[in-house]
Amino acid sequence: MKKIAVFTSGGDAPGMNAAVRSVVRTALYNNLEIFGIYRGYSGMIRGEIEQLHSKSVSNIIQEGGTILKSARSEQFRTNEGRKMAFDQLTKHGVEGIVAIGGDGTFTGANIFFEEYGIPTIGIPGTIDNDLYGTDFTIGYDTAVNTALEAIDKIRDTADSHDRAFFIEVMGRNSGYIATSCGIGGGAEITIIPETKTSIEGIASLITKGKKSKRSYIIVVAEGDPEGSAWEIAQKVKVLAPNMKHRVTTLGHIQRGGRPTAMDRLLASQMGMGAVEALIEGKQNMMAGVINGELKYTPLSEAIKKAKPINPNLIRLGEILGGATK
Ligand code: F6P
Repeated sequence: MKKIAVFTSGGDAPGMNAAVRSVVRTALYNNLEIFGIYRGYSGMIRGEIEQLHSKSVSNIIQEGGTILKSARSEQFRTNEGRKMAFDQLTKHGVEGIVAIGGDGTFTGANIFFEEYGIPTIGIPGTIDNDLYGTDFTIGYDTAVNTALEAIDKIRDTADSHDRAFFIEVMGRNSGYIATSCGIGGGAEITIIPETKTSIEGIASLITKGKKSKRSYIIVVAEGDPEGSAWEIAQKVKVLAPNMKHRVTTLGHIQRGGRPTAMDRLLASQMGMGAVEALIEGKQNMMAGVINGELKYTPLSEAIKKAKPINPNLIRLGEILGGATK
């Protein structure tokens, strides 16, 4: 293998730049030529491919976003789109790919590998932490820290005004960000898709709560089947009409900002792991980190297998939030 390419795709995540830097520097260390594909699969189809050098990735480890840009490509879902992408890679002589992204990115990579056989290694880059085969995905830790900073601030005003705040965090269909934010932010209630939500329970906590307690932090994972934070607040209000409340959706602020030390380290480790895997002849795998060590999981498993939230963390959130036995 002489030439490989790297791209970022799907929702960006803080730490993706650290991963790109690690991929580039590890490739060069091993005397490989390394190409950057811009804007994910869309750029692959359009041939937005450029050779990268050590300097191309200078001064980016601390930056959020991704220097390679990102996109979600509808065209890559089609046979024609994938054929165009393959032609572009062939034109540039690319013999191996490092795909940095989440489950959508890996689903595409898995199909592409099965059709065209170009060895591919995935690096889990998503704030959602919803991929099997790694303890943490790149960007999750930063996103949780960003959300916590906001929740701390909201608590100040919630407390001053004796209000209940319904705070929606990201996570798509997973409650990882919400669970960590609920514990770390001292939430009274954390609402996640992994557990059944009781609107009655929330209303009763607020109406029958201790007299001394008048402000509440309710963290809501965006993917909860009961609806968005706004919808859940409306439902609770029907049962607790005197509730004074506000709703805050933290949104894309969770996707930006400088990556934490943990995300930089994780991304750097995975970047090296991905390139070394290609050199060793691994293909169609994801480079994850479990208990601090690099581990490889077939892409098909990483996207299909569930990664349940540790039930003890859910229980901890409930206990610390003031639940009764
Ligand atoms: O997968 C990352 C993520 O930020 C999810 O948490 C969220 O549901 C989604 O992407 C938002 O996507 P978009 O940036 O396309 O609005």
